[in-house]
Amino acid sequence: MAGSVNIKDVARHAGVSVGTVSNVLNRTDRVRSDTRARVEAAIAELHFVRNESARQLRAQRSRIAGVLVLDITNPFFTEVARGVEDVLGAAGLSVVLCDSDTDEDRQDRYIQLLTEQRVQGVLVVPVGPIDRQVTRLRRQGISVVLLDSEAPEGLACSVSVDDVGGGRSAVQHLLALGHRRVAFVGGKGRESQVADRAKGAHVAFLQHDEPGAELVSVTARALTIEGGYEAATQLLGMPEAHRPTAAFCSNDLLALGMLRELSAEGVSVPDDFSIVGYDDIDFAAAATVPLSSVRQPARDLGQLAGELLLEEASGLAHEHRQAVLGTELVVRASTAPPRRKSARRARRA
Ligand code: RIB
Repeated sequence: MAGSVNIKDVARHAGVSVGTVSNVLNRTDRVRSDTRARVEAAIAELHFVRNESARQLRAQRSRIAGVLVLDITNPFFTEVARGVEDVLGAAGLSVVLCDSDTDEDRQDRYIQLLTEQRVQGVLVVPVGPIDRQVTRLRRQGISVVLLDSEAPEGLACSVSVDDVGGGRSAVQHLLALGHRRVAFVGGKGRESQVADRAKGAHVAFLQHDEPGAELVSVTARALTIEGGYEAATQLLGMPEAHRPTAAFCSNDLLALGMLRELSAEGVSVPDDFSIVGYDDIDFAAAATVPLSSVRQPARDLGQLAGELLLEEASGLAHEHRQAVLGTELVVRASTAPPRRKSARRARRA
């Protein structure tokens, strides 16, 4: 049906990228004539009519898109931004990266700034519910895609990750190694991504259902390397009889901080203690003890979000979609079976 045809259908039909179709629609000077002819033929063959008023509204906009993330010091988010840039850059847009620092007021100030700059679109990792801001942006003719957080159906497009499944896979791995007391290390913030990882960790324990198995919650001030130092100190302060033998950290920065602090205190990873992280940032594999981690497809997430933004900004028929990507457990040297109690006693002697 004509109404359901979108920019991805045109791209697939013409055998070009979404960015090229966007250029044909908005910047024909940037497209070779033979390519433009193929795209225009696909547009005709697929019989759809673009929303001219929306195009004119968008045509008055800058060729800029804003990417607003929770923490630009976290390599996970810069990798997501790279993915966005891969797609929007090919479509002739520039990307401005903004950091909300997981603060709602700061988030709102950046959204206001991007609105005043008349950007084509905003891709945002939200700090809490963001329905009001999305509605206001769209009223200004600015396209919006949520990153790393599933949008309520009908509100906006979003690209997120199955964090419950990712959390479950991390703890299942530790339980399969023989760990029975595992720490879940989260932060004091309200990140829904982290809450879902904790939920997955609990599901793994419920499914394991072994008497004596225990999930111990450890809370760091922030999801940073310093937060990892702090979590390690909390673990070392526990009576040895009750101390977990492994930790699932809700991101790699926490895990890397914990790894460093435990090593500094003479605790061997993984001989004395196992650690799993989350994100699989480049530093995970490069750590002194290469980190087992749940890999998020950060760059793919950004690329898909960029395509959804172009689709909405093209003014063509568009239905909001909520894409959820999978994770992959990457096992490295930081996890191993727990040391047997007798071996631990012998080591202490
Ligand atoms: O911001 C906290 C975490 O949420 C990041 O490390 C990344 O995992 C994101 O999903």
